[in-house]
Amino acid sequence: MKINYKIAITFLVVAIAAMIWLAGSIKENNEDRVILNLTPEIEHVDRAENEKWARYYPRQYGSWMKTKESDNVQDMLEEKSQLAVLWAGYGFSKDYNAPRGHFYAIQDNTNTLRTGAPVDGKTGPMPTACWSCKSPDVPRMIEEDGKLEYFSGKWAKYGSEIKNTIGCYNCHNPKTAELEVHVPFLNEGLVAAGLPTFEESTHQEKRSLVCAACHSEYYFKKEKWTDEEGNEKLAKVVTFPWQNGLTVEGAEKYYDEVEHVDFKNKISGVPVLKAQHPGYELFRTGIHGQKGVSCADCHMPYTQEGSVKYSDHQLQNPLNTMDRSCMPCHRESEEKLKGVVARKYERKDELHEIAMDNLAKAHLEIAKAMEVGASDEELKETRALVRRGQWRWDYAVASHASFFHAPEETLRILSVANDFAMQARIEIVGLLASKGVMNYSAPDFDTKEKAQKLAGVPLEKLVAAKLEFKRTLEKEWNKQAVEKGNWSEDTKNTIEKNDLKASYTIEK
Ligand code: HEC
Ligand code: HEC
Ligand code: HEC
Ligand code: HEC
Repeated sequence: MKINYKIAITFLVVAIAAMIWLAGSIKENNEDRVILNLTPEIEHVDRAENEKWARYYPRQYGSWMKTKESDNVQDMLEEKSQLAVLWAGYGFSKDYNAPRGHFYAIQDNTNTLRTGAPVDGKTGPMPTACWSCKSPDVPRMIEEDGKLEYFSGKWAKYGSEIKNTIGCYNCHNPKTAELEVHVPFLNEGLVAAGLPTFEESTHQEKRSLVCAACHSEYYFKKEKWTDEEGNEKLAKVVTFPWQNGLTVEGAEKYYDEVEHVDFKNKISGVPVLKAQHPGYELFRTGIHGQKGVSCADCHMPYTQEGSVKYSDHQLQNPLNTMDRSCMPCHRESEEKLKGVVARKYERKDELHEIAMDNLAKAHLEIAKAMEVGASDEELKETRALVRRGQWRWDYAVASHASFFHAPEETLRILSVANDFAMQARIEIVGLLASKGVMNYSAPDFDTKEKAQKLAGVPLEKLVAAKLEFKRTLEKEWNKQAVEKGNWSEDTKNTIEKNDLKASYTIEK
């Protein structure tokens, strides 16, 4: 009894100490909040310039800058050579890298061969919409030009305007630093899905929804409109396909209903749906999403600096910060937890490789059938099966780290993708046999070079044109951005100094 009494006293003392400490830290948080509320509004044109926020929020700014440290460029077309075949005839077969730090978002968007080599504001392959998840200048331009004007015209139209990388004004009110989203498509998607808007959501949900503004599936919905001067224009508006729910089947149903096709595969003629990155949608199905854990809980862990506590703005792989990102909730050792995560990756990758191989072979086998005279009518069902399979495979893997965020859903979708691909391939065997072709075996696509050749990608030409663009128009954009006051000379120099890496060699 005596011992229990002692334990109880000790426990009580520890508990009281903890409460005093907690009260202190809450007080400090409140003091922080009061200071934040006193911050004068950052002026309209300056909002988008991240460094203008630095003097009010030095810790958040300092940690945000560290996203620069994640600078590795991983060429996914090298890593998974099947990709160029799957995306033949589409920009992604030219160039596709794994994501890296937010610091590089504008630079990577400018350097990718997908955005081509415009020579002025009216040329190049991509629309303005391609900037939409890259910069706080995007909400600024939507406010200045209006939504439909922002979404009209070529990507190059905003070359000297959209310069600041993903930053404060993407997620915060410029006066109070409260969480806010300033692009229309998130709330439009939430409303279409029958979910609460950003403003109606709980604080904990907002800590994920600020990410969902960009880490979600979308397409460019075409909208005709007439501007004030009577010019007819075509806007390509970023739209989330959430009307039938935030699932792979719901989005497919939506796209089928509006008869959306991202591109026709150049090898097989399959009308493909290209998944973007439905990270938020998949995350919601996983155990952390289900338990109400937010993106910021793992990716922006609280950090103590002396007596000040703040959110770490170095968005990165949380396995680099497990003590702050995972250990507040988990009891097993970091090593053990890391092992569990690694095994999840291996399970996904096994199914991922099988799905890509089957889908790539299906495209090439359809091409063979076309060569020996199969008609569009004969291929219709098979192409539809490949479309459905490829959509599922892409949805499961394009949302980065879905193997961890939502392992069960990811494996389910990959399995179904494989089934569609195999059904298609069985159909083609029959079709080829009916044309007298037996035991056909598709050509090799086991390197990026072989796969890009099959896809007809003129890589050298694309790189040469891009380098010319970087020597000329891009330099001009950078100069103009400083003249217009969208960038400081300092920011320009920092960016130019760090513009070193792409899937090809950048000449200085
Ligand atoms: C304005 C759009 C936007 C918002 C908002 C946004 N992201 Fe990103 N995120 C991107 C883009 C674009 C990339 C890829 C950048 C690149 O590769 O150049 C990226 C990359 C990342 C990466 C990869 C970093 C690395 O080092 O590999 C992580 C992790 C990430 N985002 C997490 C988040 C989280 C968590 C949130 C919310 C707190 C968030 N993002 C909000 C657009 C956004
Ligand atoms: C991708 C979204 C995102 C970006 C970009 C971002 N923040 Fe935050 N920020 C958050 C989230 C999420 C929180 C946590 C808010 C909460 O729970 O109240 C936060 C918290 C804060 C806070 C409140 C105190 C704290 O540390 O929790 C301040 C101040 C702040 N950010 C300033 C900035 C500044 C300055 C920048 C630009 C250099 C910036 N943020 C960029 C998402 C972002
Ligand atoms: C329970 C913790 C946790 C939560 C919550 C979480 N993530 Fe992650 N996230 C991770 C881990 C761990 C990884 C790295 C996995 C790996 O590749 O090893 C990761 C990776 C990522 C990546 C890819 C980074 C890269 O370079 O490939 C992105 C992007 C990302 N998360 C975004 C988000 C978004 C957006 C949310 C909310 C919708 C979110 N995460 C919620 C733990 C989390
Ligand atoms: C805010 C709390 C919280 C944080 C932070 C958190 N987790 Fe979890 N995690 C949970 C909960 C709750 C579960 C579900 C466990 C249960 O209910 O038994 C879970 C489950 C898991 C599982 C098993 C689920 C599965 O899909 O197999 C793994 C693995 C995991 N977490 C890893 C991580 C890692 C790695 C991090 C850091 C990057 C992390 N967690 C951060 C709360 C958290």
